[in-house]
Amino acid sequence: ATEAEEKDLVIIGGGVAGYVAAIKAGQEGLKVACIEKRGALGGTCLNVGCIPSKSLLNNSHLYHQILHDTKNRGIDVGEVKLNLEQMMKAKDTSVAGLTKGVEFLFKKNNVEYIKGTGAFADEHTIAVNLVDGGETTVRGKNIIIATGSEATPFPGLTIDEKKVITSTGAIALKTVPKKMVVIGGGIIGLEMASVWCRLGADVTIVEFLGQIGGPGMDAEISKNMQKILTKQGLKFKLNTKVTKGEDSGEDVKIHVEAAKGGKEETLDADVVLVAIGRRPYTAGLGLENIGLETDERGRLVIDQEYRTKLPHIRVIGDCTFGPMLAHKAEEEAVAAIEFITKNYGHVNYNAIPSVMYTHPEVAWVGQNEAELKAAGIKYKVGSFPFTANSRAKTNLDTDGMVKFLADAETDRILGIHIIGANAGEMIAEGVLALEYGASTEDVGRTSHAHPTLAEAFKEAAMATYGKAIHY
Ligand code: FAD
Ligand code: NAI
Repeated sequence: ATEAEEKDLVIIGGGVAGYVAAIKAGQEGLKVACIEKRGALGGTCLNVGCIPSKSLLNNSHLYHQILHDTKNRGIDVGEVKLNLEQMMKAKDTSVAGLTKGVEFLFKKNNVEYIKGTGAFADEHTIAVNLVDGGETTVRGKNIIIATGSEATPFPGLTIDEKKVITSTGAIALKTVPKKMVVIGGGIIGLEMASVWCRLGADVTIVEFLGQIGGPGMDAEISKNMQKILTKQGLKFKLNTKVTKGEDSGEDVKIHVEAAKGGKEETLDADVVLVAIGRRPYTAGLGLENIGLETDERGRLVIDQEYRTKLPHIRVIGDCTFGPMLAHKAEEEAVAAIEFITKNYGHVNYNAIPSVMYTHPEVAWVGQNEAELKAAGIKYKVGSFPFTANSRAKTNLDTDGMVKFLADAETDRILGIHIIGANAGEMIAEGVLALEYGASTEDVGRTSHAHPTLAEAFKEAAMATYGKAIHY
């Protein structure tokens, strides 16, 4: 690109936020360029996040099930061996296929892909340091910043991605650790702990708060899930803070004490995963050249139309407000383009689902009980356990429950919380119900195929406005 070729839109960052915005912009007929520095499209999610972690979660679950859960199903297997190298290759193949797929979609939708690191030279000009060497500049009438996030470091522990790792190291370990300590019992902590525990590591999770699952997970669901994960072999230290980490070169010593102060203890580990949250990534963007500021948590400040104080510059995805989720980034990408082309866009932040891809999965949408109590909203609760669901019973996979929270007077659904083998798929029905302002009776009177896990969803709704049949 040269200065003469001003684009309608330049996007910095080719993650889910940036690439979806680029494709949508191309579809809307905008002249668009997307700048990405990592050498592959798809950002954190496709390269080192959602996709590789789900590949390992899926295949480690299969391995664990073959080891421990086949005999009673009438399947006798011979020697079962882990081939970690091949498991990693399978993951890499999925990642490569998907990132190449996005590149293909760029071509199909006339998006110019600029491989390099972008920084603001002025309010409309981005200087790009190209991956293959050299520099270029590109000008945009509109600019979208979609530079994503990075792991929050733990003070005093240097990340080497081998012994002291973030999720990026955790999806690429070459051997199964003997002892692994996970700092932070949020979604990354629990997903990665599940993978390595299933593959044979002795994993202890240290969590500052009194419950696992990170922000948003309903307390009852979190407690149940902790029991299920404990049965699977994970060890938990809740209400515990890490005071110091020491990397001896051989192993790592993690000093912990009760969150409120008290007895100290030292945990030895050959691998420590730091999973205490992620923070917006805007380093090197040259924000100072155009006077854009971030808030106290590093998030770029925007209005309801994703505009910064320079209205032609918008921000979407992990580097601004809201949950750090790929599908949230995707919704914002579409809305931001619609604001540019149609002056109208919309994202319902109350209907963004969360899913933890452990086994069973945990999924929720809307409010949890603590949030409703804090808001002073009167609500009723209905739930249904998978132990009473015919399909879960035939699958010999009955851990979990579906729980509805609905307005005490109107019956309108306020929140849905699921632990279950397919909770991540099942929550889609909940999101739709919430989007359409459904009551639990609307769901309870809707036919669900038999025998399916989804019947537990219907029966939990029935239990909220009346009674379930099978429990
Ligand atoms: P990113 O995906 O981080 O993309 C930003 C891109 O911008 C990066 O590729 C970066 O290289 C590029 N960039 C930054 N600065 C510049 C610059 N100056 N010039 C050019 N390029 C630049 N979310 C889910 O919804 N489901 C999941 O299952 C899930 N699993 C996850 C698992 C892990 C281990 C992790 C870490 C995250 C997971 N997430 C998941 C979160 C999800 O990855 C993020 O919410 C999502 O990637 C955000 O998209 P984004 O485009 O805003 O940012
Ligand atoms: P998180 O915010 O979900 O959880 C971090 C946990 O660490 C919290 O429970 C917190 O209390 C705890 N913690 C913080 N400081 C601590 C300390 N010093 N000692 C002990 N515990 C401490 O963050 P996480 O798990 O790192 O994930 C980051 C983001 O990535 C999430 O916000 C999530 O949106 C996204 N993600 C989403 C996934 C999904 O959708 N399935 C999968 C993985 C990540």
